[in-house]
Amino acid sequence: RETMAREKVTRARALCMRGYLLTVCLSVWMDSAHGIGVQLIPQYPMVRQSVTLSVTGVTGTIRQFTWYKGSSTDDNNQIFNVIPETNSVTNGPQYFSRASHFPNGSLQISGLVPTDQGNYTVFIQTIEGTAQHTVLLTVYEPVTSSVISTNNKEPQENGKVTLTCSTNNAEKILWSKNGVSLPPGLILSADNKTLTFSSVSRSDTGQYRCEASNAVSKIISDPYTLTVNYGPENLRITGSQQVTSGNPISLECSADSVPAPTYQWKLNWTVLEFQNNKLNIQQATSENAGNYTCIVTNSVTKLSREISVYVTVNDNQCQSGNSAAFTAAIICGCILGTVLIICATFLLYKRYVLPLKGQSGVGGEDPSRIYDNIPNTAVSQPEKEEGPYMGLEYSTENTYSDLKQ
Ligand SMILES: *[C@@H]1O[C@H](CO)[C@@H](O)[C@H](O)[C@H]1NC(C)=O
Ligand SMILES: *[C@@H]1O[C@H](CO)[C@@H](O)[C@H](O)[C@H]1NC(C)=O
Ligand SMILES: *[C@@H]1O[C@H](CO)[C@@H](O)[C@H](O)[C@H]1NC(C)=O
Ligand SMILES: *[C@@H]1O[C@H](CO)[C@@H](O)[C@H](O)[C@H]1NC(C)=O
Repeated sequence: RETMAREKVTRARALCMRGYLLTVCLSVWMDSAHGIGVQLIPQYPMVRQSVTLSVTGVTGTIRQFTWYKGSSTDDNNQIFNVIPETNSVTNGPQYFSRASHFPNGSLQISGLVPTDQGNYTVFIQTIEGTAQHTVLLTVYEPVTSSVISTNNKEPQENGKVTLTCSTNNAEKILWSKNGVSLPPGLILSADNKTLTFSSVSRSDTGQYRCEASNAVSKIISDPYTLTVNYGPENLRITGSQQVTSGNPISLECSADSVPAPTYQWKLNWTVLEFQNNKLNIQQATSENAGNYTCIVTNSVTKLSREISVYVTVNDNQCQSGNSAAFTAAIICGCILGTVLIICATFLLYKRYVLPLKGQSGVGGEDPSRIYDNIPNTAVSQPEKEEGPYMGLEYSTENTYSDLKQ
């Protein structure tokens, strides 16, 4: 019967073309003009849910309607044919039990499965004429959890890194870095699943997420922390390099490095026991003087760099209390000068006084006073090179005055 109706329309249209049967033409074009439509309820049907393909725009009482799976009204595509008035239903080859109908011409499919996706065509015959409409049913599946993976778990600066967002059913994938959209200059694949850093830099370090979505769902991945390893570079050592004997030697070594580097210390060529970036010697002696080297190693980049400082340990014997180096030098000079005076006096004594001694027998108190001074000064060694000269000038006068005495 429905086939007959279709044939009628085709015939009617052919006749219209030829200018015949004005009334038939009017009804056919009216149907076409008003048309019918099919509205999907809900608009984005999901698997396991139901959808109603609701026929809209129907004018007049429905005599019969037929649903087809596909975009043509081919008999092989028929799901069912319904005459609402008598509630008589004829199932076609494409009938399936999850399909049902409403008197208003609508088709309902329950328990949607992905293969339900496709075109559906409805053909409707009313008392006023016939009309058909094809609609595409898209069956949505929720996006599956999105997970970021990488090709390079410990990337080094200037290396290539790709981050991949693994997810299914997504229509759209968006990436974010530290909660905001990606900075420019990064390469995304056509489907946005892969983010490529062709030459990664330390500024790319951060937390990345991908957001996978389609019309019915959205899933944001857990953050992936991209850490770009580099260094060590920009090595520096802080701490005093001029230490007075008895005071601590305290050096601190640092460098720019990701991950945090390991440290090793050497004095001259000998490895010291200090394992971190701080070196501490409580009471320095002259034995602690030398070339201190800090060796910094990055376990990921496998790079090792070193920096050295020369630490001098000044003897504090010449230094009394509040010693500025200059004052110390003068004092040392004085002492050295005194030594020289003693020596000179002794020599003069030996040369001029001793020969006379035999004759006059004059013992004199001066020599004993001179010898008394020796134990105090004998310990002091020649120190600063500048000392003796300063002392010498000053002491020469003393020598003369001593002699005059
Ligand atoms: C047809 O009937 C169904 C079931 O009552 C309803 O959901 C749908 O909205 C109806 N369609 C129209 C166009 O009224
Ligand atoms: C649905 O029909 C349209 C137009 O007739 C066609 O382009 C499309 O490929 C069809 N889609 C499916 C899934 O059959
Ligand atoms: C890819 O990402 C860009 C923004 O980075 C976005 O504008 C676009 O819609 C996305 N395309 C897809 C298919 O996800
Ligand atoms: C280290 O070498 C310097 C000379 O370069 C030397 O003066 C110093 O005594 C040495 N220190 C040690 C502890 O060997």
